[in-house]
Amino acid sequence: MTQTITVIRGDGIGPEIMDATLYVLDALKTGLSYEDADAGMVALEKHGDLLPQATLDSIRKNGVALKSPLTTPVGEGFSSINVALRRHFDLYANVRPAKSFPNTKSRFPDGVDLITVRENTEGAYIGEGQSISDDGETALLTQKITRKGSERIVRYAFELARKTGRKKVTVVHKANILKSTSGLFLKVAREVAALYPDIQCNEMIVDNTCMQLVMRPEQFDIIVTTNLFGDIISDLCAGLVGGLGLAPGANIGVDAAIFEAVHGSAPDIAGKGVANPCALLLGAAQMLDHLGQPDKAERLRAAIIATLEAKDSLTPDLGGSGNTMSFAKAIASRV
Ligand code: NAI
Ligand code: MG
Repeated sequence: MTQTITVIRGDGIGPEIMDATLYVLDALKTGLSYEDADAGMVALEKHGDLLPQATLDSIRKNGVALKSPLTTPVGEGFSSINVALRRHFDLYANVRPAKSFPNTKSRFPDGVDLITVRENTEGAYIGEGQSISDDGETALLTQKITRKGSERIVRYAFELARKTGRKKVTVVHKANILKSTSGLFLKVAREVAALYPDIQCNEMIVDNTCMQLVMRPEQFDIIVTTNLFGDIISDLCAGLVGGLGLAPGANIGVDAAIFEAVHGSAPDIAGKGVANPCALLLGAAQMLDHLGQPDKAERLRAAIIATLEAKDSLTPDLGGSGNTMSFAKAIASRV
């Protein structure tokens, strides 16, 4: 049976990098078929809704979506569509690999190969209970951490370690200060870690983690942490390995998973055909792993690395004079 995935072409550079990504996936002969669905500004213009019900239905039916960046209109009472999607499908695990690639502007052209596993549904990041006093002098925010939420994300991290042959999980927290919330997360993480004696587990406080990441990133393998810390740390990690053009992310739940690039719709270069398609391609590689096609995922990653090594048709952000489609064709010729 052919697997159908929902394809969201998105806004700005979205359609350009999606065309490039599907071109390479076709060359890989993944056997996937694609169902287009709209979200973002393009959906607002076509259907009067940033996130139409038909799009939600398509993702629910197929269980897997490949998504280009979406523009969320600023200051018009719209909330982030990405956050809405995570909530709607309870996509509790945000999985962001960061790996050194050749010929990027990275300070770490080799040695970094880590995955941040970020809890995606609770904690300070979701902005629960926000209020500002009438006099504007005091602001409040509720931070809720649950045993269930902590347990499933830490389990996810350890299972990912087993599945990918990784050896170490670092639990990142601030339990010394945030004794209730971060304290509960750490307590549950220790309980879960005890169930995985084959995987090394260590604990690190979040501020020290930031310094360690910049000084000696090669010591990390899998990082698991709460939502807000994960948001910050995963961007730091993207910066270690050459920035946004190379950073993919997966949002994974029990019934659905959405794979994407970490970057946004890049309105400054949209329509010029020069966007780097690698982040979405690497998101597609995560999707192939998820769909049980790890050999194709590996071939895709290897083709990207080989193309970077050869400096063949690289986009301007990587110092090349190629464009989105010529870069994609160079990658496709190596899969
Ligand atoms: P951005 O990531 O779109 O752009 C930041 C800078 O990086 C720009 O100079 C852009 O040209 C460059 N850049 C980004 N992706 C690139 C690529 N693939 N190749 C080459 N250069 C690339 O962030 P910005 O400007 O803050 O946000 C623009 C829009 O994107 C906003 O509407 C924002 O809401 C949305 N956004 C959507 C996300 C998503 O759907 N996952 C994530 C982040 C932002
Ligand atoms: Mg972020």
